[in-house]
Amino acid sequence: MNEKLTALLGWIDARFPLTKMYNEHVGQYYAPKNFNFWYYFGSLALLVLVIQILSGLFLTMHYKPDGNLAFASVEYIMRDVPGGWIIRYMHSTGASFFFIVVYLHMFRGLMYGSYKNPRELIWLIGMGIYMLLMAEAFMGYLLPWGQMSFWGAQVIINLVGAIPVIGEPLTLWVRGDYVVADATLNRFFALHVIGLPLILLGLVVAHITALHEVGSNNPDGVEIKKNKGPDGHPVDGIPFHPYYTVKDAFGVGVFLFFFCAVLFFMPEGGGYFIEAPNFIPADPLKTPEHIAPVWYFTPYYAILRAVPDKVLGVILMNVAIFMFFLLPWLDRCKVKSIRYRGPIFKTALAIFVISFLGLGYLGTIPATPAATVVSRILSILYFAFFLLMPIYSQLDRTKPVPERVTCK
Ligand code: HEM
Repeated sequence: MNEKLTALLGWIDARFPLTKMYNEHVGQYYAPKNFNFWYYFGSLALLVLVIQILSGLFLTMHYKPDGNLAFASVEYIMRDVPGGWIIRYMHSTGASFFFIVVYLHMFRGLMYGSYKNPRELIWLIGMGIYMLLMAEAFMGYLLPWGQMSFWGAQVIINLVGAIPVIGEPLTLWVRGDYVVADATLNRFFALHVIGLPLILLGLVVAHITALHEVGSNNPDGVEIKKNKGPDGHPVDGIPFHPYYTVKDAFGVGVFLFFFCAVLFFMPEGGGYFIEAPNFIPADPLKTPEHIAPVWYFTPYYAILRAVPDKVLGVILMNVAIFMFFLLPWLDRCKVKSIRYRGPIFKTALAIFVISFLGLGYLGTIPATPAATVVSRILSILYFAFFLLMPIYSQLDRTKPVPERVTCK
């Protein structure tokens, strides 16, 4: 049996670089030996991507992308399709878990300076993925054709109208009608199911290819490739398989425990994962009392609402996302990891996290005058983190970075 398998592998290898690719990316990919908790989230993002694609595939078999049928088809999936409820909740819970995982993954990058030379392109591709993910989630949320699907899309698409001169015709072009309607639902379905996922998958492949070209960073921010042993492998590196396949498998187990807990006991995530008005069919004649996007968009939504002028609000909301693209060039510090960076960066990062979470919360509640004032203060702190970075990242006192990785 073994001989036959080896022969088959030899036959494939002569025609396709299977073993070569396996060695390059798994068996002989040397990753730093000091990965910690924060290094689980890349593989978990891959896992959630697979969950979304598979659950989405089965949802598509029963869903009807038609303004008159969409809401009822989702109810049919929930009540009549065998196992339909779990597939639907896997997909809706999966969307929120995707963002939880990706936000933690990005935060790791901020802490350990993973966006710095030579990993700028990994970061930029990651940001492309993040933007696509937001578009994918936004379009997916319209599909159940509930009240929040409809009015959320109406509000966000109307923002396009703030662009001078071409705003109005562009909004009409995006919607395909004078209001969010059947045409909008059809095009969002096409983009959500095939258009964006195809680009997303391509970008994920590019993300990992770029990572394996330069090698992984680590919690010490030490370049392990600079210190190679006689065998040509980094002395502080260990093969991805079996060491990190086992570590990641453990991470998958723990993740699935939390994922299933939400899936089985609170699939709407307390109204944060699926908002209550979305259990009511879309009604173009009845605006919900309070329209708010899903939690993963709310930091940016709070920035939009904090600005009194609509055009400026839309600009700042987009700039808020765009700032992340500039990080590799805004950060002038020679040291990568937070372990060896000074008190100014640590304080700035802590304030940034507070402002992001605070804005996230404020974006979910109605805009009272007090909430607007707090949103304005937090928006200023949000932008200050990026805009002042070229100055404070140079001024900060850093600690000496060790020659080799440390295993704490
Ligand atoms: C579908 C979404 C994503 C997937 C599947 C994904 C996958 C991965 C994987 C498997 C790794 C290697 C393991 C690890 O370091 O944890 C990685 C590393 C990395 N990712 Fe992502 N990623 C995604 C989104 C993002 C986003 C949104 C960003 C940032 C904007 C990002 C930035 C990075 C960086 C900088 C690294 C290198 C980290 C280091 O070596 O310290 N990724 N990603």
